[in-house]
Amino acid sequence: CSPEHPHPTRPMSTLDLFAEPPAAPDAAGPAQRAAQLRAQLHHHAHQYYTLDAPEIPDAEYDRLFRELQAIEAEHPELLSPDSPTQRVGGAVLDAFAPVRHAVPMLSIRTETDTEASGAQTFDARIRRELKLQDSDPPVRYVAELKFDGLAMSLRYENGLLVQAATRGDGETGEDVTHNVRTIGQIPLALPEGVPPVLEVRGEVYMRRDDFEALNARQRQRIAAGIKGEKTFVNPRNAAAGAVRQLDPAIAAQRPLSFFAYGVGEVSDPAQGGPAWETHHDMLMSLRDWGFPVAEQTACVQGAAGLVDFHQRIGMQRDLLPFDIDGVVYKVNNLGLQAQLGFVTREPRWAVAHKYPAQEALTVVQAIEVQVGRTGKLTPVA
Ligand code: IVH
Repeated sequence: CSPEHPHPTRPMSTLDLFAEPPAAPDAAGPAQRAAQLRAQLHHHAHQYYTLDAPEIPDAEYDRLFRELQAIEAEHPELLSPDSPTQRVGGAVLDAFAPVRHAVPMLSIRTETDTEASGAQTFDARIRRELKLQDSDPPVRYVAELKFDGLAMSLRYENGLLVQAATRGDGETGEDVTHNVRTIGQIPLALPEGVPPVLEVRGEVYMRRDDFEALNARQRQRIAAGIKGEKTFVNPRNAAAGAVRQLDPAIAAQRPLSFFAYGVGEVSDPAQGGPAWETHHDMLMSLRDWGFPVAEQTACVQGAAGLVDFHQRIGMQRDLLPFDIDGVVYKVNNLGLQAQLGFVTREPRWAVAHKYPAQEALTVVQAIEVQVGRTGKLTPVA
C-alpha cells in the first residue's frame, strides 16, 4: 500500500497457532490430549471458516470435537475459554450486560451523493483541511467495502477473546460474548506476539447463501407447525437477530461471518503494542493474526482512485456473496487521521459513499387466489 513502508511478508512465527499440530503420542494424559485437540480444531476451523480450504471431512472434525468435549466433561478443570467447544453455547442468558467501550465506537459521515462527485467532494475537503496546495501529491486512502451487518467490538487480553460487544449508542454497547463465540470466523485465541490488549472492530454479517438456506429451513419449520418461528427479511436483520439471541445454542445455528475493519483500544508500543503508521498496516496485522479482512480492500490515491474504486465495486456488487450498501474511504496515514480529528461523533478522515438502495418498499396491489387441479388454493400477490 505505502511503498515507503512496504509490509513485511508474513513471518511464519505469527502463524504457529494454525500450523498443523504433531500427531498424537500414544500415552498422552488428558491435559496434553485436550491441548492437542484444541490446536487441531483451531487449525481446521481456520482452514474451513477463514481460508475456505478444509483439509478434513466434516465428520472427522466432529469426531475430534466430540473427543475434546468428552475430556472436558470428565475434567472440567481443563476447560478454557478459548476451547473450540465454547463456540457452541449452553446457558440461556437473561439479558445482555452493558459494556462501556474503552474507545467510543464512532459512526461515519455518509456522502448521500451516490455519483462520482461524492468521492471528489470528500477528497477536496480532505485536501482543504490538510491545507494542501494543488501542486502537492494526491492523498493516499484505503478504500473498503461498507458491509451491511452490525458493528462489533472484540476485546482480546493476552491473546484470548474475553468480550464481544455491540456498538449500542457508541459509548455503551451490549455484552454478546456468548453468541459471538459461536462465529467460526472469529478467533477465540490469537497467535504469540499480539498486543496484550487488542480490541478488533468490524462487522458481523450473514452471507447471502447462508441467509437463503436459513430462510428455507425456517419455512420448513413453520410448515411443520413449530410455534414462534419466522423467516427473516434480509441478511442484516437475520444477523442482528442471531447476535441478540438470548440462547447461544440458537445463535450457533444461525451462520454468521465477520470482517475486521479497525481497532479500538490497543496496547501502546511501550506496553508491547504495535507501532502502525498506516491504516493499511493495521489491517494487514489483523489479517496476519487470523481476522478476515475483505480481499477487495484497496490502497488508492486521490479523487481519481476513489472514483475508480466506487465504480469498480459498484459493478461487482451483485456478484459479491454478501450485501454491501456502499464503500468507505479512509485517509491511510494515521498521523494525518489524528491531525484531521473528529466532528461530534464522526471522524473527519473517513466517509461512507453509498450506492442506490437495493431494498425498497412496494405496495401489494391485489392478491389473486389460484385454484389448482386438485383444488389446492395458492394466493399470488
Ligand atoms: S469504520 C471510525 N469501516 O458503518 C469509523 N465502518 O457508521 C468507524 N461499517 O455501523 C467505522 N463497513 O459497522 C467502518 N469498512 C467499514 C465499515 C463500517 C460497515 C458500518 C459500521 C457502523 C457504520 C458506521
